[in-house]
Amino acid sequence: LKENSLSEIKSASDTKKINDIRVHVLGKKGPITEVLRGMRDLPADERPKVGSFANKVRDEISEAITQRRDELEIAKTADKLEQEKIDVTLPGVPVKQGQPHVLEQVIDQIEKLFLGMGYQVVDGPEVEEDHYNFEMLNLPKDHPARDMQDTFYITNSILMRTQTSPVQARTMEKHDFSQGPLKMISPGKVYRRDTDDATHSHQFHQVEGLVIDKHITMADLKGTLQQLAKNLFGEEREIRMRPSYFPFTEPSAEVDVSCFKCGGKGCAVCKYTGWIETLGAGMVHPNVLKMAGIDPEIYGGFAFGLGPDRFAMLKYGVNDIREFYLNDVRFLEQFSQKG
Ligand code: PHE
Repeated sequence: LKENSLSEIKSASDTKKINDIRVHVLGKKGPITEVLRGMRDLPADERPKVGSFANKVRDEISEAITQRRDELEIAKTADKLEQEKIDVTLPGVPVKQGQPHVLEQVIDQIEKLFLGMGYQVVDGPEVEEDHYNFEMLNLPKDHPARDMQDTFYITNSILMRTQTSPVQARTMEKHDFSQGPLKMISPGKVYRRDTDDATHSHQFHQVEGLVIDKHITMADLKGTLQQLAKNLFGEEREIRMRPSYFPFTEPSAEVDVSCFKCGGKGCAVCKYTGWIETLGAGMVHPNVLKMAGIDPEIYGGFAFGLGPDRFAMLKYGVNDIREFYLNDVRFLEQFSQKG
């Protein structure tokens, strides 16, 4: 019985089998219990011998059971560990990371450049008063140049700003010249009643620039814009200025950058002129200074207004402005700063 049980225990392959054996061999109805129970029928002098023998067999079997059970438990745990093992060297699942919008990237670059030149960055309201968007910029109610910018009016005197130039007016009005010259840029959204197409969007961006001090000349303006063109479009870029008209600057200029698609030779991007039109600028009109409470006999300055949308289109060869506002991740991901 012992030999049999021990070999059965050894070969048992799971804990359930072990348990069956235990119940069968050591249980109440098992052979060993039976032997022990049958002892009372034995002569008294044989009882200790038989008893201790039966007990010994029972102990051995019981120990074998415990041992085998432990073995199985350990094997089971090892097996489980093996199956659930994690290979930490496997490549992870990448987490998608966002990034600044391409227009934000262009604006950031412009801000960095001008902050480095001692300008402050000023914010202004998108819902603006006619007073600041037009009047203070030398555009009275009946001025024909108001038609240059189709306007979303909210009431008679409240509108969606059509340009960032009202921030000029607001800042000039507040500036204390005893604290030094005024040098500011103001990036932001502007709105015009245009029908959206590849080159028009009812909402787009502008960055306004303004410097007011004593003895500011057009050469300062040109030098500043040259820096800007080189910083944004490459060291080799040149600029040229053509006479133009804005009610709030006199003289006014349209500023072109030498074409970086065809090395100045002429191609479709520059309409075969070798120059790309990029921004408007000029010397601040005396009327604008006067209205802001600044004496044009003492102070003067320059202003410029550029479009980051247009800059980004030129820089990255985007040929539809609407792409910037569709928020198609496949489009936006192309401007990852990770390179
Ligand atoms: N505000 C002008 C526009 O939107 C641009 C500009 C700004 C021109 C400042 C000259 C000086 O067209």
